[in-house]
Amino acid sequence: NTYRIAVIPGDGIGPEVVAEGLRVLRAVGGADAGFSLELEELPWGSAYYDRHGRMMPGDAIPTLRTFDSIYFGAVGRPDLPDDLTVWGLILPMRRELDLYVNLRPVRLYPGVPTPLRPEVGEPHFTFVRENTEGEYAGLGGRQGQGEYELAVQTGVFTRRGIQRVVEYAFSLAAPGSLVTSVTKSNALRHAFPLWDEVAAEVAARHPDVRFEKMHVDAVAYQLVKNPARFGVLVGSNLFGDILTDLGAGLQGSLGLAASANLCPGQRLALFEPVHGSAPDIAGQGKANPLGAVACAALMLAHLGEREAAGRIERAMEDVTRQQVFTPDLGGSCSTHEVGDALLAALERE
Ligand code: NAI
Ligand code: MG
Repeated sequence: NTYRIAVIPGDGIGPEVVAEGLRVLRAVGGADAGFSLELEELPWGSAYYDRHGRMMPGDAIPTLRTFDSIYFGAVGRPDLPDDLTVWGLILPMRRELDLYVNLRPVRLYPGVPTPLRPEVGEPHFTFVRENTEGEYAGLGGRQGQGEYELAVQTGVFTRRGIQRVVEYAFSLAAPGSLVTSVTKSNALRHAFPLWDEVAAEVAARHPDVRFEKMHVDAVAYQLVKNPARFGVLVGSNLFGDILTDLGAGLQGSLGLAASANLCPGQRLALFEPVHGSAPDIAGQGKANPLGAVACAALMLAHLGEREAAGRIERAMEDVTRQQVFTPDLGGSCSTHEVGDALLAALERE
């Protein structure tokens, strides 16, 4: 099998962490692995905008559809508004490719210092974030001036949109395990009662899986106090965005967190670290590449190359156990040195 991968390094630390992810991908792919990768770099992002006045070419979406997968870094540059950069690259890719699931596994890596006390147990859960509608639908506007200026931001929640994402969350849950639906139906009294209703209908079709609904504020609390209680969580775009950064905090660093943007049943999916372009550390070799590397493993698993994905996961564990850490984890290694350690760990296997 040969897989064609669109590589979009993007802005800031995006290219720095993607470079290490590509080294790892090249090391695990190849003739003796039983598959090969064609990695094609697409120079889209803020530098592309400087030259062309847009973040990606007009035929970007049909171009992406010709690939088996997309490997993305991050987008955003301090001198350009996010409304132009984020809304010009990552959000349209998610939406126009209908990648309605944003999947974020949260687990601890050996040797990584976490803010959790050992007695609360280890987090090992998967967050399923709705990725195409909800609070990030982009509807609303600003009106008036001065003291009377106001802004309205409208969320869009469709029965179909809720149903399919909750259904996917249940598909991940093993019999007897727990699915938690995250809403705020007491305060947001239109969208989330609909969400609760649809989630309960989906849950009724999966009697072998345990189900609960919980308000987002309570979930935030429980994630810190009792993270081991969760299995699969499913929530809206905004709640998922916030809670998965909390999850990254539990893991010990945003730099470790990985995500998949996917449309269940479809091969084409987009894999990206959870973090952004981190302009505060860009260009200094300080970025933690492990989130991007974990994305490479998620991507291979999604393509059906589970053995290669497992090799990457084991190499990551090897490296964290030896505490080959960038500064975000309290170490003094560079991005590239972590990549070197990963390649050495893969060699040793
Ligand atoms: P950020 O995730 O870029 O950075 C937050 C903090 O975490 C910073 O202190 C940064 O140094 C640190 N950090 C992030 N990734 C790290 C890594 N791999 N290793 C070590 N430290 C790391 O979030 P921020 O600062 O809110 O946003 C910066 C830009 O990125 C903005 O333009 C934002 O819109 C964009 N962004 C893009 C995303 C994407 O491409 N999907 C996601 C989130 C933000
Ligand atoms: Mg985020």
